[in-house]
Amino acid sequence: MTGAAGRIATAIRPLLLEAGHSLVLCDAAEVSAVTPGERVVRADLRDIDAHVAAFVGADLVVHLGALADERPWPDLLAVNVDGTRAVCEAARLAGVDRLLLASSVHAAGYLPADSTAACDGMPLPAPDTYYGVSKAAVEALGALFAGRFAMTVVSARIMAFSARPVGAYGLHWWLSPADMARLVLVTLTTRNGGHHVVWGVSRNTRSHVDPAPGLAIGFDPQDDAELHAAEIERSGPAGSPRLLGGVFADADYRLGEPHGGPTAPR
Ligand SMILES: NC(=O)c1ccc[n+]([C@@H]2O[C@H](COP(=O)([O-])OP(=O)(O)OC[C@H]3O[C@@H](n4cnc5c(N)ncnc54)[C@H](O)[C@@H]3O)[C@@H](O)[C@H]2O)c1
Repeated sequence: MTGAAGRIATAIRPLLLEAGHSLVLCDAAEVSAVTPGERVVRADLRDIDAHVAAFVGADLVVHLGALADERPWPDLLAVNVDGTRAVCEAARLAGVDRLLLASSVHAAGYLPADSTAACDGMPLPAPDTYYGVSKAAVEALGALFAGRFAMTVVSARIMAFSARPVGAYGLHWWLSPADMARLVLVTLTTRNGGHHVVWGVSRNTRSHVDPAPGLAIGFDPQDDAELHAAEIERSGPAGSPRLLGGVFADADYRLGEPHGGPTAPR
C-alpha cells in the first residue's frame, strides 16, 4: 500500500488486518502505530527500486500515495503522474498483476451531477482542476498497464472519504472506511480482468452516480450516509452539488491553489 501514512490508509489498515491480510506500508512520511502483520518501507513514490523490493510477493498494490488536493502543476506532475507511473512499473517488475489506483471524482468534476453521463455508466474524464487532470492521467496509466501487461487494474473515482459523512454534500459523496476496505478486497479477488473505472462512493440514498461499473467487479458498497442526515443537517442545510466536482469546479476556484478544507471531495 502506498500513501500508507495518509488518511485513507490509516483508516482501512485495521480492517484489512482483521480480514486476515498482511500489509507492506509504503510512504515517504513516517507511518505510525505499526502492528504485527505490517511492515514499513519509507520511500518516495518515484523510487522504483525501493517499491519493487517492497512489492515482491504481494497479491495486490493499493496505490493511495499522492498530493490529494489541488496544487501547482509541476508538483502534481511529479508526484501524481510520475509517481503513479513509477508505482505501476514497480508492480509489474515485482510480478504483481493487480492494482487499485486512487483516482478522484475530480477527474470528472465538470460533469453536471444529474447528467445522464454521470448517472448512467462511467463518463469520460472531464477534470475540474490540475489535480483532476493528474487523476485522469492515473486512470490512463491504469488502462495502459492493464492493456499492455494483462494486469487487473481498478481506478476508483473516490468521492469524499471520511469516518462519517461531513459537509453540505456529504450525503451524496461519502465513502465509508468499510466500503473502501470492501473495494480493496474486491480488487484482490475479482475475476473480471482488464481496466475498470468505478465510483468510490458508499451506497448513499442521495448518490446519483451509477453503481453498475463497481458491481461489475463485485464492489457492492453497504453504508448509507442517510443514517447521518440529522447530524449533517444540524450543522447546516444539506444540498446537491450542481457539478460533480463541487467547489473545485466553481468558476472562481483558482487553479494550482490547494483547497485544504475538510468538506470538499478530494
Ligand atoms: N480522502 C478523500 O476523500 C479522497 C477523495 C478522492 C481521491 N482521494 C485519493 O485517495 C488517495 C489517498 O487519499 P488520502 O486522503 O489518504 O490522502 P493523504 O494526503 O492523507 O495521504 C497521501 C499520502 O501520500 C504520501 N505521499 C505524498 N507524496 C509522496 C511521495 N512523493 N512519495 C511517497 N509518498 C507520498 C503522503 O505522505 C501521504 O501519507 C490519494 O491518491 C487521493 O488523491 C482521496
